[in-house]
Amino acid sequence: MAISNESTAATSEQSGAPKFYYPSEELAQNSNIMAYAREKGFSSFEELYQWTIQEPQQFWSDMATRFLEWYQPWNQVLDESNAPFFKWFTGGKINIVHNAVDRHVNGPNRDKTALIWESEQGESRRYTYGQLAEEVNRFANVLRSLGVQKGDIVTIYLSRVPELLFAMLATVKIGAMHSVVYGGFSIDALQARIVDAKSRVVITGDGGWMNNKIVELKKITDAAVDEAQGLVEKVLVVRRTGHDIAFNESRDVWYHELAAQPAMDEPCATEQMDAEDPMFLLYTSGSTGTPKGLVHSCGGYQVQVAATLSFTFDIKPDDVYWCTADPGWITGHSYIVYGPFILGATQVVYEGAPTYPNPGRWWEIAQKYGVTIQYTAPTAVRSLMRFGDEVPRQYDLSKLRLLGSVGEPINPEAWRWYYRVVGQERCPIMDTWWQTETGGFMIAPNPTTPLKPGSGTKPFLGIEADVLTEEGQPASGNDDGLLVIKRPWPAMLRTIHGDPQRYVDTYWSRLPGNYTAGDSARKDEDGYYWIIGRIDDVIKVSGYRLGTAEVESALVSHPAVAEAAAIGLPHELKGNAIHTYVILRQGHEPSDALADELRKHVGKELGPIARPETVNFVPNLPKTRSGKIMRRVLKARALGLPEGDLSTLEG
Ligand code: WTA
Repeated sequence: MAISNESTAATSEQSGAPKFYYPSEELAQNSNIMAYAREKGFSSFEELYQWTIQEPQQFWSDMATRFLEWYQPWNQVLDESNAPFFKWFTGGKINIVHNAVDRHVNGPNRDKTALIWESEQGESRRYTYGQLAEEVNRFANVLRSLGVQKGDIVTIYLSRVPELLFAMLATVKIGAMHSVVYGGFSIDALQARIVDAKSRVVITGDGGWMNNKIVELKKITDAAVDEAQGLVEKVLVVRRTGHDIAFNESRDVWYHELAAQPAMDEPCATEQMDAEDPMFLLYTSGSTGTPKGLVHSCGGYQVQVAATLSFTFDIKPDDVYWCTADPGWITGHSYIVYGPFILGATQVVYEGAPTYPNPGRWWEIAQKYGVTIQYTAPTAVRSLMRFGDEVPRQYDLSKLRLLGSVGEPINPEAWRWYYRVVGQERCPIMDTWWQTETGGFMIAPNPTTPLKPGSGTKPFLGIEADVLTEEGQPASGNDDGLLVIKRPWPAMLRTIHGDPQRYVDTYWSRLPGNYTAGDSARKDEDGYYWIIGRIDDVIKVSGYRLGTAEVESALVSHPAVAEAAAIGLPHELKGNAIHTYVILRQGHEPSDALADELRKHVGKELGPIARPETVNFVPNLPKTRSGKIMRRVLKARALGLPEGDLSTLEG
């Protein structure tokens, strides 16, 4: 197989280390997943899994009733008549906000803490489920007062503040869809997403705190909205920093001013949605052109999110759960804003940087709130590992019982450090493989799974995966191949906004009948999956997903640049870093100053996470005869590897 775009692949166990790390028998036997297995008459995960593969529709309908309330039951679990446009729970009526928020108000969780928010400066806010419901209700009324209606797409561009969660929940409460743009993105990325979603209302903040600096959310929004040429009618501004910002009286409105009107506390009805109505758009980078707006549904999405969170992270009523992701990414959507609240959990959200004001900040938060489950990313583990074992050891982490990882392969060294130093050899690590497209976990351990550092272990209940060759045959033992999912699953994306053909072409055409994930992987002798990396032009930088095309178009928007190519190369902390190759326009000369200017330019246009590691000036780029840049050749050259088949290389 062609070299993959990424090379952070976890390698096999080093000699001398144990092959498996076993969760304790107590944890396994008392787990949510074993409780369900026993109810079904099984005594192990394996037996349960086999049954869910034979009876997936029975399994998923079990999950739909176990975790959720429906306004109206479905007639059909899975409708395959228009594959690959699959439908789940057709005829059912539901709203995720009823399950995550409304129903708790009349139940035992009313006064339970739903959300503990810690600001970067150390302020702490707590919301019970009752208060969460009030906040969401008020926010929903404010959106209605701005004319937001069922089916509208509201773009949300906020930092990690409670209002981000309220805004998302409020949007869905009234039957509108959200399109959340990560607060670390910048003008171009935001503008492209606003325009593609045709958002008439944008929610932003006056600023956000990160690393003791203010992120100028409003300034970036203003520039993006101006470029969106009259599309946006209202910008709703949440006050966070209180510093001076430009305010356009005819377009901008303060959230706190509208929210203070007594009418906003009137009850706002939660819309009853069809299971297949779209619930949100989330843009993600693909191999070519503009980012894709992936469409997720109201019904199936919440079924899988609730089931996976309960069975993988084993959430119990007393747990204090902390997912360190940003709500602006799929991890934050599924496993901060929706999943934990559906399960009635108490969760922590931290606004700022892991190392502000010192490298112990995360562990201090874990100690302060008695965190029992922490779900994070390999890049964070690697960067905190750098500060040494002494830092986490200064804090009481004895309440932790489960850890988790997502976003890229975790290298065994980082896995072991997280296991040994943070988890004190007591906490199994749930290495969850999934994607923006999949909506929820697809390959992941659970509290009964013997673990291998660096492997996401095996598919979740009801999920059938495989590793296939380019010809569609199962890859033979331990060989690399394409990671596929062999049948539909409830939280799957339904389409790409405005481009259903791209949905079919990207995911369902390469190996007909299978969903191709865009990752290469291998399956070992125990049936464990090892993700190697992306096979398309997607780069995972610190776990963030970026497209080479986005970086390249940001570069060519600079007047000095004629052509550009971007690739990902291994990086010790980030997993991968972006390296770029630039052909200058006539009249411009290569210099360090220009390279630096170009790096900053990409950062300004797309956001700091997209800032390239290097800018290399080149006289030409390797291209196919049809003019496509051969990034694979650039990458091989940079790594000193054989350049492979060059038969399509231009002249
Ligand atoms: C990668 C993030 C290895 C993979 C939820 C996938 C992983 C892409 C893992 C999706 C993991 C995610 N081990 N690789 N546990 N989790 N990936 O859409 O390449 O931001 O295709 O979703 O991240 O990234 P996305």
